[in-house]
Amino acid sequence: MYKFPKDFLWGSASAAYQIEGAYNVDGKGMSNWDHFVRIPGKTFKGTTGDIAVDHYHRYKEDIALMAEMGLKTYRFSIAWTRIFPTGNGEINQKGIEFYQNIIDECLKYGIEPMVTIFHWDLPQALVDQYNGFESEKIVDDFVNYAKTLFKVFGKSVKYWITLNEQNIFTSLGWLTAQHPPGKFDDQKMFYQVNHHAFLAHAKAVLAYREMGFDGMIGASFAYTPSYALDCNPINAMSKMNYDDLKNYWWLDVYAYGEYPIAAMKYLEKKGVAPVVSQEDKEILKKAAKEINFMGVNYYQSCVCEYNPLDGVTPYGTMNTTGKKGSAQVTGVPGLYKNPQNQYLKTTDWDWTIDPLGLTYLCREITSRYRLPIIISENGLGAFDKLESENKIHDIYRIEYIREHLKALSQAIDEGCEVLAYCTWSFTDLLSWLNGYQKRYGFVYVDRNEETGSLSRYKKDSFYWYKEVIETNGEKL
Ligand code: BG6
Repeated sequence: MYKFPKDFLWGSASAAYQIEGAYNVDGKGMSNWDHFVRIPGKTFKGTTGDIAVDHYHRYKEDIALMAEMGLKTYRFSIAWTRIFPTGNGEINQKGIEFYQNIIDECLKYGIEPMVTIFHWDLPQALVDQYNGFESEKIVDDFVNYAKTLFKVFGKSVKYWITLNEQNIFTSLGWLTAQHPPGKFDDQKMFYQVNHHAFLAHAKAVLAYREMGFDGMIGASFAYTPSYALDCNPINAMSKMNYDDLKNYWWLDVYAYGEYPIAAMKYLEKKGVAPVVSQEDKEILKKAAKEINFMGVNYYQSCVCEYNPLDGVTPYGTMNTTGKKGSAQVTGVPGLYKNPQNQYLKTTDWDWTIDPLGLTYLCREITSRYRLPIIISENGLGAFDKLESENKIHDIYRIEYIREHLKALSQAIDEGCEVLAYCTWSFTDLLSWLNGYQKRYGFVYVDRNEETGSLSRYKKDSFYWYKEVIETNGEKL
């Protein structure tokens, strides 16, 4: 009944800081996150990724579980600080060895490695030297790091994601102060930081081609598709404003190498537009022609309603407690606000559950950009319970992923080219703002503070997804 392409990449994803642990082992340098989590009050109950789920030492066990499940691809990120402890300079061979082992282990089981070059853990040395992405100097260091990875792993890795969720790490870093560097409402810098990140992405893409590789490369974007509240034209306009500022600002640059016109005008009037040279424009355009897919992380959709000039501000409180109903409405005065969608249920963290939103965004990418799509993340964060005999009955997760896969199969049926679907995540891991209480994995990790066992237990969803893969999605 449900059809997926013959060579569809059924996958699962993770990120270095969230799983590896071993934060100071084998020559690894300190990252901005190693630093940030040590500032009191920054993370949920002071949680860190110092140990995380100890994937650094247990990768063989984890990848064997992936093989048992039948995963076709495993998306993971490389910690820049393992390769270049201080961001540039001499290569740390131990870091290379670790990722070579992961890649070899995947290939041994026929699992396609999909590598994210940057999933938010930036060498702290580059922050100390020039404030990381705030300086254009980041571009050369990022490209040097990316080229090193291409050179060493380029023959065995065919799928590359330059940046994970540029829109999120910059928003939380410079607008809401929840991620490093923890700045609040620094809009001018926010747009400049993004411009540097775009250049870093673009130059890495161009370098990949110049080095003669013909693999697949692109970026992963946290896509929150939007619906107008109703057919009141002012609400339809608010949706357009939202999309320009919150979605197309990134998607258009990746796919066309151009910023959305109305949004740029708006930012210019506010005096917060980025400085973009003619040369930058050419680089962005050139790189846009070289990407092979749009990577999408999809968790929720939103509603757009007109927001008066004296209306709600952009930075409401995010629910980081898991107590339903604690998130606030956010918006940009004069443009839009995002009220709750009364037709949709939400997770315990107030994220709307909207499978059809996945069909919607695939259709939108296909018609706007004509690009293949990789769903690089999708999943449900929940409080899981370890029951007797180490069972975890996460029926709610099965239900969530099943509905999203049905929606994806609908998008494919309607003509979208979807190459891969990666759930977030394979094992449980650290949630940046929610510690270890918000779980996403197919594999439960027992972080029992007393026993410290970190044992792995397969959840019900593990067996279910295994069967989905075996039947290539026919049996959802
Ligand atoms: C994405 C990130 O934003 O969502 C992941 O790429 C993150 O790193 C995931 O963990 C889920 O977010 P959260 O806040 O629920 O952990």
